Amino acid sequence: MSLLITGGTGYIGSHTVVELFNDNQDVVIVDNLVNSSTNSLDRIEQITGKRPTFIEADICDKAAMRKVFTEHDISAVIHFAGLKAVGESTQIPLSYYHNNVAGTVALLEVMTEFNVKNMVFSSSATVYGESNVSPLVETMPTSATNPYGQTKLMVEHILFDLAKSDPQWSIILLRYFNPIGAHSSGLIGENPNGIPNNLLPFVSQVAVGRLAQLQVYGNDYDTLDGTGVRDYIHVVDLAIAHLKAVSALANLEGCTAINIGTGNGTSVLQIVDKFKEVSGADIPFKISPRRPGDIATVFAEAKLANTLLAWQAERNLDDMIIDTWRWQSQNPNGFE
Ligand code: NAD
Ligand code: UD1
Repeated sequence: MSLLITGGTGYIGSHTVVELFNDNQDVVIVDNLVNSSTNSLDRIEQITGKRPTFIEADICDKAAMRKVFTEHDISAVIHFAGLKAVGESTQIPLSYYHNNVAGTVALLEVMTEFNVKNMVFSSSATVYGESNVSPLVETMPTSATNPYGQTKLMVEHILFDLAKSDPQWSIILLRYFNPIGAHSSGLIGENPNGIPNNLLPFVSQVAVGRLAQLQVYGNDYDTLDGTGVRDYIHVVDLAIAHLKAVSALANLEGCTAINIGTGNGTSVLQIVDKFKEVSGADIPFKISPRRPGDIATVFAEAKLANTLLAWQAERNLDDMIIDTWRWQSQNPNGFE
């Protein structure tokens, strides 16, 4: 039996495949390479000594997906595939709804045809919207403020409805907080296209000299130093959460949403200071206006993952920044 990993050549997917291989599980990756390359497969092989089975296909292509399920004995799907840039989603919303929502529905239809009814889905803390006060708890009301967030919320609703309609389905929605860091080998890590939108890839590209200056979006929030506070989570801890979620599927009925965070908040300036300390590099920054859509503080209540998955974050902020810097300094231009 194999696990199907959609989006498995991407940032979180590639780290998860490494942890699944370390746990001696078989995997099949499907990815259309829209935001990744097969270089990550070479690196996974370098780390683990095993090369994942890889099929270049789009999850929206039902014929291609049927072929995958015909040729491989799939027990469950970890569904990472999707587009993830918030700003881009406001410019090309239809691509986001097509890929993330229609693509997931197509995948679920094919899974149903092949009677594969186990899924772990990549959701996001973005579904908590703007009004809830941290720590964010899984039972809080959800909402979305941009097309990307809408797609995550719509897929969550689809998965809740599906599980209600048929008790054979077992689904876990992992609501990730802010994944950062890289594998400790420095061989795989985040490799954004173009100018990064997220804080950590931006800071590390400034540290390595690819970008001149960080803009800190606002220092007038009601936080310890006025800059935005987030719950950063090491990507390897996040990968391990997927491993635990897959094994928990057998014991959990229906559809369950679970936060994956540390429960701690870190400000932008704390990240900059830690990055300077770890890298020894200068990180020039200027204070800029707030970024539309941002809120002051976001962190998780992380107890449910411990109760249901026997998971908790093991890696601290030092580990996250040290590993980010190792990846960035060993691969100043990403996988290229
Ligand atoms: P990523 O872009 O590195 O990985 C996603 C992968 O999916 C890419 O390799 C891409 O080529 C592939 N893909 C996209 N559309 C596809 C399609 N239609 N068919 C097949 N493959 C397709 O992103 P990531 O950071 O690894 O994120 C993985 C998942 O986690 C995404 O669903 C993302 O929305 C979600 N998520 C990410 C974060 C984050 O900060 N990185 C936070 C919360 C949730
Ligand atoms: C962003 C998305 C969120 C998505 C998440 C993971 C927005 C509004 N939210 O979350 O939907 O799920 O990424 O992909 O885009 N910052 C700077 N300068 C920068 C970049 C960021 O000061 O150049 C600050 C931000 O204001 C924020 C913090 O750093 O306070 C973290 O930002 P980021 O990494 O983009 O993550 P989120 O905003 O939490």
